[in-house]
Amino acid sequence: MQKFIFINKKIDQLKKKSISIPGDKSLSIRFILLSSLSQGKCTAYNILKSDDVISAIKNIKKLGIKIIMKKSRCEVYGKGLYGYKYKKNLVLDAGNSGTTARLLCSTLIDANYPIKITGDKSLVKRDMNRIIQPLKMFGARFQHSNGKLPFFIKGSQFIKPINYIENLGSAQVKSAVMIAALKTFGVTKIKSLPSRNHTELLFKNVLNIPIKINKKKKYDSIEIKGKNEIRPFNYKIPGDISSAAFFIVLTILSKNSKLILRNININPSRIGMIKILKRMGAKINFLNKKKYKGEINGDILVQSTKKLKAINLNSSLNSSAIDEFLLIFLVASRCKGISTFVNLSELNKKESKRLDWGIKILKMMNVKVEKIKNHGIKIWGNKYFPNKKEFVIKDYLKDHRIFMLSTVAALSLGGCWKIYDTASFKTSFPNFLKTLISLGAKIK
Ligand code: S3P
Repeated sequence: MQKFIFINKKIDQLKKKSISIPGDKSLSIRFILLSSLSQGKCTAYNILKSDDVISAIKNIKKLGIKIIMKKSRCEVYGKGLYGYKYKKNLVLDAGNSGTTARLLCSTLIDANYPIKITGDKSLVKRDMNRIIQPLKMFGARFQHSNGKLPFFIKGSQFIKPINYIENLGSAQVKSAVMIAALKTFGVTKIKSLPSRNHTELLFKNVLNIPIKINKKKKYDSIEIKGKNEIRPFNYKIPGDISSAAFFIVLTILSKNSKLILRNININPSRIGMIKILKRMGAKINFLNKKKYKGEINGDILVQSTKKLKAINLNSSLNSSAIDEFLLIFLVASRCKGISTFVNLSELNKKESKRLDWGIKILKMMNVKVEKIKNHGIKIWGNKYFPNKKEFVIKDYLKDHRIFMLSTVAALSLGGCWKIYDTASFKTSFPNFLKTLISLGAKIK
């Protein structure tokens, strides 16, 4: 495989009117983990076949669970809540996937041997204290240094339900506590800041777990009764809005273009970016909305937009747009006026330091940008673009979203872009480049 892609031509007008986007990553990983705890064969349709999901599959297989992939169909033969086969010297590698590492640990709180958990160069830099702390309260034991991978986790026979306050607004932490609660006898109570709610919807509408959810002003309160066997289930995974986001922004910034993205998950806890871009003047509409097992799915119609305006955003939409901020910054850089965004410390805890990378890439593009207090960013929109310039994007810890952002910037703004680490986007969107080419992109 070549080391970098080279783009030196803007897309003039998108060639196609509609595209499909691969299955949602959060739902695909949750399907693998939760079905492995069920009492029999579960099938997912349109599962995402990306590196992160493959990491989840490989690890669950190592725990003695049979999984068969047939094209985009995935069959998992669960063995019940306590059906994992724990072995001595077991090593589980979550690759690049924070969701896999954190949620997988929560399924291991009954492991009778220490299990080593590790990950790639990016994942070993990320904070795992956020799940070590609650899982220890359940009774799991850890051997770790600095709350980072690699570490050892050993379960206990004396696991007990907990009361937990989740105050990062992290869906991974909330989900880890919820999944661990399944193996305990009694009621686990969680107060959590708002974050994506796929795990709650799956527990309630698919797994039939006794769960009470109360949406309060600041916190969501969740109560889960554990030790309920999970009946086998099937699930049709909708398209991933975080992947669709790249094409939404490409369309907005391209000339005379109009695109429909078919059957995308538009769960309200995931559409922060759409709300923000609409406030900035972007033309985006939802069509054919349908409810499926608690989730809302639908088509997204997006059109090029000439007049975009700056935004002064408070943090209320941050968690529902958390994976899309790099794209929002790109749009802000093309608007008239000054935009500000605040309370984005979590962005620097992702696959790479995304807040810092956003600033770096915008500066390369001659955009005036500043880090402001409260982990914020201020962007002076600028229609002028130095399109004779050469842009080189490398050493970004192979963060898939940095690769895809740079590609969209290159295709919508122009300039000569050399973007390294061509395999990075396989983490979440293996046919990203193919989809771009089908829309008319020239990529060498
Ligand atoms: C995810 C939650 C988010 C998001 C990540 C996937 C999930 O992280 O950034 O890509 O599937 O639960 P948080 O744990 O910060 O919410």
